[in-house]
Amino acid sequence: MPRTLADAPVMILNGPNLNLLGRRQVDVYGTGTLADVEAMCAEAAAAHGGTVDLRQSNHEGELIDWIHEARQNHCGIVINPAAYSHTSVGILDALNACDGLPVVEVHISNIHRREEFRHHSYVSRRADGVIAGCGLQGYVFAVERVAALVGKGVAEA
Ligand code: DQA
Repeated sequence: MPRTLADAPVMILNGPNLNLLGRRQVDVYGTGTLADVEAMCAEAAAAHGGTVDLRQSNHEGELIDWIHEARQNHCGIVINPAAYSHTSVGILDALNACDGLPVVEVHISNIHRREEFRHHSYVSRRADGVIAGCGLQGYVFAVERVAALVGKGVAEA
């Protein structure tokens, strides 16, 4: 049975360097911090009777371990894989092991308007939706999308 937002938190995963959000390349990523992202997502999830579990790691294996955890204990995954989007078959494989779990990929910047090497994301092959270029608001859209997808067949929402 799919878990709903009321049953389990939405896992919100953030990849390398996003701990520096708000202080790093503010011209590209803005001045908002991960704490701001957490507050915005918590509010969005609460409107659907849910909660969020936001984590960040600079280590690929730790992100993979957390995806395995989400497979068992969370109702969906919002993931900004950051630089690993463009390199990590390991993260793609971990997400592919999460049968039926909604996965929404977020990029704060519009990766398609940036360098060529950012245009391809391995994670997009598994993601049910991809949001790019909407700033921190993209995370809120992603939580809304997970809320729409849980408890339904992904194709129906
Ligand atoms: C990013 C885009 C990636 O290309 C980059 O490596 C990041 C952040 C974004 O949120 O726009 O670290 O995922």
